[in-house]
Amino acid sequence: MVAGGAPPPLDRGATQLPAGAAVPADASVTVAAGAVDTVGERARAAAPAHRYVVVTDDRVGPLYASRVVASFGTGRSIDVLTVPHGESAKTRDTWARLTDELLALECGRDTTLVALGGGVVGDLAGFVAATYMRGIPIIQVPTTLLAMIDAAIGGKTAVDTPAGKNLVGAFHPPAAVVVDPSVLRTLPARHLRAGVAEAIKHGVIADAAYFARLEADLPRILSPGGADSVAMSALIAGSIAIKSAVVVTDAHERGRRKILNFGHTIGHAVEAATGFAMLHGEAVAIGMAIECRLAELSGTAVCGITEQVCAALDTAELPTVAPSDLDRAAIVRLTHADKKARAGAVEYALPHAIGEMAGADRGWAVPLPDAFVREALV
Ligand SMILES: NC(=O)c1ccc[n+]([C@@H]2O[C@H](COP(=O)([O-])OP(=O)(O)OC[C@H]3O[C@@H](n4cnc5c(N)ncnc54)[C@H](O)[C@@H]3O)[C@@H](O)[C@H]2O)c1
Ligand SMILES: [Zn+2]
Repeated sequence: MVAGGAPPPLDRGATQLPAGAAVPADASVTVAAGAVDTVGERARAAAPAHRYVVVTDDRVGPLYASRVVASFGTGRSIDVLTVPHGESAKTRDTWARLTDELLALECGRDTTLVALGGGVVGDLAGFVAATYMRGIPIIQVPTTLLAMIDAAIGGKTAVDTPAGKNLVGAFHPPAAVVVDPSVLRTLPARHLRAGVAEAIKHGVIADAAYFARLEADLPRILSPGGADSVAMSALIAGSIAIKSAVVVTDAHERGRRKILNFGHTIGHAVEAATGFAMLHGEAVAIGMAIECRLAELSGTAVCGITEQVCAALDTAELPTVAPSDLDRAAIVRLTHADKKARAGAVEYALPHAIGEMAGADRGWAVPLPDAFVREALV
């Protein structure tokens, strides 16, 4: 996946303008064990700059930042900015702090950022890059499975506000994405499984063969040493290919990109109902199970799809029902707060069969009354 189009124009000593509206979403993506030690050369090739600044969090930084810095070679001083780990750091305050730190370092437009971390760091550093001096390039070095196959691909960046997640952001495609599966060795198992939920989603929305292979490979992927397995690399490459293919046809989510929301309308509602105690991928797993049931109840999907998807989720040890103490009415209410709710009717991205989404003739969104949702929320 190599970025195409004309090279960006030069400006005031800048070596490359930010990836902006004219830049395709399929930036150059590398998936290779040990790639974390090649970030420097890849960054120099994809986004030549006078200064490089690594943004990471306080868990990932101690593990991998020194390797990324070393990959730039001894002659260069690379700054590392560290934010606290976790979703609570993905705020306008942290954005302001990072921006101030870049200004204090006297970074100009000829600076490229390197986001080293999970989706939180990727979204946050991405939004800093989108806005700093009207936009500077970013290299994404995702270190969670979720970030490798989802957050780092597609160019969405954002911070959260008290009113909700991802409400302030920008489309800012990375100049390159460098994925090193071996960093998953240190990722807590619960986060690994949460990433697998998005991979299962990719199979359901676009590729039955990928879904079948993934399901067969799951025990290996989740076993000790799974990070270094061929199965893990196949998952990452397969999922990136699916997400990139969807995004490249619809960078700004006006049509087909909506299929990526499968499992997310209910998933976001469940996530919010738990006060975000549940991981996003866990909530999406529940969301997929319930939305499959919705698809069957509404006659949108073939019979048996819920069972198929739940079997894969079970193998990944992901939840398929909302916790019993969660108020079902609250979940239904929260689906209306989702960005996908238009004119009162909540729209769902629903499968027709494994690998095939419904609603191509209706903008890939199926509006459904709450009665179906109440029935599906067993
Ligand atoms: N931009 C998009 O298109 C997009 C898509 C999906 C999700 N997201 C966003 O991604 C975020 C979630 O990302 P996430 O699940 O990666 O969570 P995260 O970034 O919070 O990472 C999870 C935890 O794992 C730690 N960690 C990361 N990599 C590690 C490693 N290799 N070894 C040990 N520890 C490691 C982190 O410090 C953190 O504590 C959410 O904010 C979500 O909104 C964005
Ligand atoms: Zn998701």
